[in-house]
Amino acid sequence: MAVQLSTKHLLGIKSLTKEDIELIFRTADNFKDVINRPIKKVPSLRDVTIANLFFENSTRTRISFELAEKRLSADVVNFSASSSSVKKGETLLDTVNNILSMKIDMIVMRHPAPGAPVFLSRHIDANIINAGDGTHEHPTQALLDAYSIREQLGVFENKNVVIFGDILHSRVALSNILCLQKLGAKVKVCGPPTLIPKYINQLGVGVEYNVQKALEWCDVANILRIQLERQDIKFIPSLREYSLYYGINRKLLDKIDKDIVIMHPGPINRGVEITSDVADSKQSIILQQVENGVAIRMAILYLLAARRGKIQ
Ligand code: CP
Repeated sequence: MAVQLSTKHLLGIKSLTKEDIELIFRTADNFKDVINRPIKKVPSLRDVTIANLFFENSTRTRISFELAEKRLSADVVNFSASSSSVKKGETLLDTVNNILSMKIDMIVMRHPAPGAPVFLSRHIDANIINAGDGTHEHPTQALLDAYSIREQLGVFENKNVVIFGDILHSRVALSNILCLQKLGAKVKVCGPPTLIPKYINQLGVGVEYNVQKALEWCDVANILRIQLERQDIKFIPSLREYSLYYGINRKLLDKIDKDIVIMHPGPINRGVEITSDVADSKQSIILQQVENGVAIRMAILYLLAARRGKIQ
């Protein structure tokens, strides 16, 4: 059983072993207990300073990381590209080196360019945590998603997960596929042919274009939104048509004879990829995912700091 992460950074699920993921889950179990206590704070990261660098919008991930850092007693600085000197033409490396000269131990970064965290990890000594890089990976989202599935189903072996929606533009989809496969689950994707990447079969993932058949096959439906901000051409005729053919609604779920687990990483577009009666139903664990995100991020920060010998 692993007691230390095999990696200095969390750049993507691709670079984690199954043992790393299981260690993160075991550590998150402890932190989930901590955040449900009356006193939710531990001193573990008292001498650690963390910079949250967000070059792209975020609600859940940014707040979740900040909360996780504060629950671990780290010193936290927040950076938002829209109010920084990036607007004056400063490069990513110059920005980060300037921040690091203020003695920062860890960087949590969201960036629109795929590979930006890998680039930084080759130039600086601080631990880098990828909080989403363009259409590439969103490893902490995949870890909290898999952790939430583990909570619901106990095991991954012989469990079927379908990821619905805009797979082509989704970093959540790739990280989820890699994570769930490492843990032993079977994964399919379902969406319009224009939003399924051509390379999907190389990932060992099945494709189902029929939503009803996909729902019948799965134990878990992870529903993604259409990422219009990443689409420079039209991939679907309209959101109304997408909703009609690929939206998950109560009528579809009532036709299958089991209660599948409904997930969504957020932000939700109600009435497009998911109806409100499904998003807010007992089957939905959308808010549990958000709660688990704090415990998972505490676990990652703790384990990376432990690797550096920085734990109190
Ligand atoms: N799930 C997710 O990454 O949400 P945010 O973009 O709000 O961080």
